[in-house]
Amino acid sequence: MKITVLNGSPKGEESGTVYFVKYIQKKYPQHEYEYFNVAQAIKKIENDPQEFDRVIESVKNSDGVIWSFPLYVFLVHASYKRFIELIWERRVENIFRDKYVVSVATSIHFFDHTAINYMHSISDDLNMRYIDFFSADMTDLTKEDRRKDLLQFAHNFFEQMEQKRKTIKSYLPIIVDIKEYIPTEVRAPLDTKGQRFVIVTDAMDQDKNIGRMVKRFQEYTQADLVDLSALKINGGCTGCIHCGFDNECIYGENDDVKKTYEKLKQYDILVFAGTIKDRFLSARWKTFIDRRFYITHQPHFSGKQLAYLISGPISQTHNIREVLQANAEFDEVNLAGILSDESASALEIDERMKALAQNLVEYSLQGYIRPQTFLGIGGMKIFRDVIWGRLRMVFQSDHRYYKKHGKYDFPQKDFGTRVLNAIMIPITKIPSVKKSIQRDMKKHMISANQQVLRSK
Ligand SMILES: Cc1cc2nc3c(=O)[nH]c(=O)nc-3n(C[C@H](O)[C@H](O)[C@H](O)COP(=O)(O)O)c2cc1C
Repeated sequence: MKITVLNGSPKGEESGTVYFVKYIQKKYPQHEYEYFNVAQAIKKIENDPQEFDRVIESVKNSDGVIWSFPLYVFLVHASYKRFIELIWERRVENIFRDKYVVSVATSIHFFDHTAINYMHSISDDLNMRYIDFFSADMTDLTKEDRRKDLLQFAHNFFEQMEQKRKTIKSYLPIIVDIKEYIPTEVRAPLDTKGQRFVIVTDAMDQDKNIGRMVKRFQEYTQADLVDLSALKINGGCTGCIHCGFDNECIYGENDDVKKTYEKLKQYDILVFAGTIKDRFLSARWKTFIDRRFYITHQPHFSGKQLAYLISGPISQTHNIREVLQANAEFDEVNLAGILSDESASALEIDERMKALAQNLVEYSLQGYIRPQTFLGIGGMKIFRDVIWGRLRMVFQSDHRYYKKHGKYDFPQKDFGTRVLNAIMIPITKIPSVKKSIQRDMKKHMISANQQVLRSK
């Protein structure tokens, strides 16, 4: 059987992920494999039609496709996303129809599921026959058990493809129900009470809803504007991790990305705006998001308010919402709302816009940050562990930051609990004590809360 491997790492041949696929190839040499470094070569693929056609021709002649990609900031790398956008822009989506497909992803398991969901939904949108995913830690190839799992996964892929077995579709096609948004006039701008707004957008075109939403929001809040389409961006994140030591990006000051991120810190309220393209924001937006990685695993906007203006079917793409919420929690900002142009009249959108802007000002003055959910808390525990341990040497700047900001909240530092456990656990071995604790467990669990109600 013929397999096309679409490599989503900006490192091309030096991708660690693609070694997982090469290992499959080594153990299943009876199949034919053709590799394309689509993320690394995206400029060539985009600008030279023959290069794009070469990839598509290979897919056309294949029985199956492997999406081989590293995690890049909650999703795939911006250039991989750009390749996916090109599939629809150049109307070759039918070439992918009915091809069997799997995802092979590597990461440190920080939001690997949102990238996997994304690629699964893209596969379903392309009417491919999605079999499964394999999400590995970047070091898993060195572990015997994981190699066994990988080969089992590959075996299942080849066997199901050979047998032409039916697959299950998980994502229904998106139904777009977006009306043209013609804004109402802004009669009186908002009194922002000294809170400074900035809007970051990739689209200011006044012939699109998003351009008009941005313009109206800007008029109402007197926000400054950052237009990503006009920003000088010399390229996508290369994955070199040069930034790990001192947060210095290889692009340096040669383009506008770092300057823009530093400038955004001056504002109290950030509003990010964009249109949903396939199942995320545009590749342009994703490039800007990826390039934020020069600040590595440190929050950049702590204490600020954030909102999104989105044109497109956000209610049908829950994965995006999860990424935006998780990103906000990681950044220690308050995501006050995501306003879209779905299924609403212009008047309703404008009223919601007004309320959102008012809320943003109030929350900002209060300094209100909603407590984190599992997304922020769980995510930070993954970073805490890897930065303290195996990635400390390459991410020394994160280590310094985590030490300074109390991110190393390991339980072993909690001496009170350790002493309590050391004394109490042996005591609970006494049957009568254990029984009494079990009997009054519910009371024990609320006693601290009761004390707060009594005393505060
Ligand atoms: C800019 C950047 C962003 C990353 N984002 C994530 C992420 O969101 N979640 C995660 O678990 N790992 C993330 N990683 C780790 C990579 O996914 C991991 O190192 C991967 O194995 C690299 O594969 P590659 O060598 O094929 O490019 C990121 C790495 C870089 C350099």
